[in-house]
Amino acid sequence: MRILSGIQPSGALHLGNYFGMMKPAIELQYEGEAFYFIADYHSMTSLFDPVERRQNTLGVALDFLACGLDPKRTVFFKQSDVPEVCELTWLLGTVTPMGLLERCHSYKDKLAKGISPNFGLFAYPVLMASDILIYDSNVVPVGQDQKQHVEVTRDIAIKFNEQYGETFVIPEPRIRAETARVPGTDGEKMSKSYGNTIEIFGDEKVLRKKVMSIKMDSRTPQEPKPDADQNLAIQILKLVAPEAEARAWEDRLRAGGLGYGDLKKALFEYYWAYFAEARKRRAELEANLDYVQQVLREGAARARAKAREVLDRARRASGVA
Ligand code: TRP
Repeated sequence: MRILSGIQPSGALHLGNYFGMMKPAIELQYEGEAFYFIADYHSMTSLFDPVERRQNTLGVALDFLACGLDPKRTVFFKQSDVPEVCELTWLLGTVTPMGLLERCHSYKDKLAKGISPNFGLFAYPVLMASDILIYDSNVVPVGQDQKQHVEVTRDIAIKFNEQYGETFVIPEPRIRAETARVPGTDGEKMSKSYGNTIEIFGDEKVLRKKVMSIKMDSRTPQEPKPDADQNLAIQILKLVAPEAEARAWEDRLRAGGLGYGDLKKALFEYYWAYFAEARKRRAELEANLDYVQQVLREGAARARAKAREVLDRARRASGVA
């Protein structure tokens, strides 16, 4: 079973990314042959700073390797190191109805926000289809927001197969359960666009400040809090503390007598300890960037061999070869 997923290099990864996507992706590498890539081509549809793109791409690579992605098990690479994916995008685009792309929520949402769309943004789902189909992927783990894009991929693959004969494997989306909805410091879903994130890695002082800024209400410490399970610090604590200890903190908050400041200090310590090992590994990797580049190069070579095979199949089927 080939598992494939991509992540855009859009900035430092935060707890929402970690529990929502990275952790499940890293666990999945034991269930099949995983191909994970950094979607730098996709990032070009909305990020226009080359220095930032390069930095973010390296940052995501470091984050994943530090958090346990095993490059011996998993083919880990940068999307643009497999330029074959662009040629296949063209082939797929010619069997993709305009209407299919016009109906995509993520595209419509961006239009509604007033973004003036470039062709790349419109064609985004075709490039994503190419990412998926070019490796004969069976399973595509994504968040709910990307489900439609995987459905579009299936439609495109089916159309191509009908037009030119059996060429592509039809992939299945695997939608991650939203159990790990991670609240941001303001109580909204943690997201870079809301400015409410707590990063996985970074400066201790800055991150401590972010944890201490988690929004609380104005009740006194003494008051019992029957809604302790709704408390944002408790919700995050449950992700980073051993279960029994998280429950004990929740009980203390419910009973009354625990101040929010003390609760958040405890949360910071658990969070800091939770990523201690990964932080150490990240520092080692940062001191050894040649190794990181080599991992990406080797990943690209393996990915590219597969991509070449599938692209040639599609070229023969469609009569350009
Ligand atoms: N569009 C995905 C996102 O923003 C990233 C992505 C690009 C992707 N290509 C992919 C995910 C292929 C899964 C499969 O999250």
